[in-house]
Amino acid sequence: MKSVIEIKELTKKYGDLTAVNRLTLSIREGEFFGLLGPNGAGKTTLISMLCTLLEPTSGSATVNGAHVVSESDKVRQSIGVVFQDPSLDELLTARENLEFHGRMYGMNEEEILKKSDDVLDLVELSEQSHRQVKTFSGGMRRRLEIARGLMHTPKVLFLDEPTIGLDLQTRNHIWKYLLKLKEKHKMTIVLTTHYMEEAERTCDRIAIIDRSKLVVLGTPSDLKKSIQGNVVRIKTKNGKKELAKKLERVRGVTYVDIYEEGIAVSVTHGSSFQQILKIVSLKKFAVESIETHEPTLDDVFIHYTGKEMRKDEPYSDAKLAWKAGVR
Ligand SMILES: Nc1ncnc2c1ncn2[C@@H]1O[C@H](COP(=O)(O)OP(=O)(O)OP(=O)(O)O)[C@@H](O)[C@H]1O
Ligand SMILES: [Mg+2]
Repeated sequence: MKSVIEIKELTKKYGDLTAVNRLTLSIREGEFFGLLGPNGAGKTTLISMLCTLLEPTSGSATVNGAHVVSESDKVRQSIGVVFQDPSLDELLTARENLEFHGRMYGMNEEEILKKSDDVLDLVELSEQSHRQVKTFSGGMRRRLEIARGLMHTPKVLFLDEPTIGLDLQTRNHIWKYLLKLKEKHKMTIVLTTHYMEEAERTCDRIAIIDRSKLVVLGTPSDLKKSIQGNVVRIKTKNGKKELAKKLERVRGVTYVDIYEEGIAVSVTHGSSFQQILKIVSLKKFAVESIETHEPTLDDVFIHYTGKEMRKDEPYSDAKLAWKAGVR
């Protein structure tokens, strides 16, 4: 399959801090590609370089065959972007925001009218198109931002946390539009998200980035297969290191990951489970809970980053809600 984004040894430094470190990656045409990683991993920095908003310190990247530095105008013409932080004009109506964007991209008035109708319809905002954005809910704003990113029919759409802080129903709506875009328009979509189940449902391939580096890349099912056997999650705050050491010695345990809230163990041998139970029931470890399941993307994330993904609770964090424009 043809690749639409080629990234080679791409690096971005902010002074002493390396936000993206020699990252090499190729994204295929028509692919729904997920970038996952803990806070501060470098996802937004990477997307900003691909969108020509930030200049790389070293390395190179092409989008639709155009170089992100020397041919930035060409790149911009062929991409749509939905930023992590809201960037709509609050005082304009939904339609005016789209019109403004269309003019910035040199579209003629007829095209602007037709395309605005199409994209408003896609995100089901046609009836609200004459309302000022300041009267919109967080979910409506997000939908409008996606519509705006589609105005000039981009070949690649970049979405940085398109559903952060939104309630479950709105999130489901947005994913539905994105899948529709992928199927109908064969668009390449590159997105970052903290919601594992969404990434799993929609992404063809996922790259996990941690501390500025690409740590693993594959289809959701390949990534889950890389965690062999079943996973046992043990929640505890006490003596995690000691507990991990004991568990490592149990027969059938392939690896033990320590993360913020406890320990995740991968087991392939049936008989080892009894022994695990024996160890975790030792009082000194004060285990709060233990459960076992088949590997999920969340387990993959813990294994490669040592961190658990953000919990699936809308508005659990005021800052996240703010980011989505919900006040
Ligand atoms: N303009 C900047 N100046 C200095 N450091 C920056 C700047 N922008 C980002 N950083 C740092 O670069 C690193 C990567 O940040 P980035 O925003 O790319 O992470 P992220 O993966 O998008 O995180 P999040 O999940 O929180 O959105 C972080 O350590 C961040 O503090
Ligand atoms: Mg970010």
